[in-house]
Amino acid sequence: MNKSTPPVDFEVRPAAPSERRALFNMLELYQHDLSDVWDQDVDEQGQFGYELDSYWSAPARKPYVILVNSKYAGFALVNDEVKVPGGQHWLEQYFIMKKYRRLGLGRAAAVRLFDLFPGRWQLGQFALNYPAQAFWRATISAYTRGNYHETELTSGSWVGILQAFESPAPAAPGAGAARQAVPTLLDEPA
Ligand SMILES: CC(C)(COP(=O)(O)OP(=O)(O)OC[C@H]1O[C@@H](n2cnc3c(N)ncnc32)[C@H](O)[C@@H]1OP(=O)(O)O)[C@@H](O)C(=O)NCCC(=O)NCCS
Repeated sequence: MNKSTPPVDFEVRPAAPSERRALFNMLELYQHDLSDVWDQDVDEQGQFGYELDSYWSAPARKPYVILVNSKYAGFALVNDEVKVPGGQHWLEQYFIMKKYRRLGLGRAAAVRLFDLFPGRWQLGQFALNYPAQAFWRATISAYTRGNYHETELTSGSWVGILQAFESPAPAAPGAGAARQAVPTLLDEPA
């Protein structure tokens, strides 16, 4: 794959129940990838494990796969378990396989997701996951034209760097899409 051109033939679509194993296996790669910043060990089977079943039973939990030329290139797990009041969508996990990195795929697929779910998004990264922080700042900044808020949560059930922004409702035909900031979203403590 030519590293200088972003992949054009990519797809972001809901993962079917039959793709549970594929998603689980990619989650293993993901968890190993983050094992220097996400403190967990593998079990007696050598697996990190991940509770995925609820992603096909709880309506607010949405599993997505990302494909390039019909091959798995990553995934996204979206739910509504936002970490500060006022949000609607929380990106629980997000992964692009190493082969497909630095091609613009992560950014393009994220934009697809934001457009799929209009409303108030919250995204988080582990405090030590500096590459992911750089990626999300670049991606969200471009998507919102700088209209996002970032904070660090240092206590509570989830700690880390958190960005909040709003993705717009689909524009009426002929109208330009306006990206709305949410100025007070992070002003009030959780
Ligand atoms: C973070 C991740 C999703 C990025 O995916 P990607 O497809 O490589 O990202 P893109 O190619 O779209 O990058 C867009 C921009 O983000 C920034 N960026 C991406 N990866 C970066 C890195 N490792 N270090 C610094 N900046 C980075 C750059 O500005 C990049 O633009 P450029 O390549 O023109 O410089 C991918 O590296 C990944 O899955 N990492 C492991 C799992 C993880 O950390 N997930 C996020 C959890 S919060």
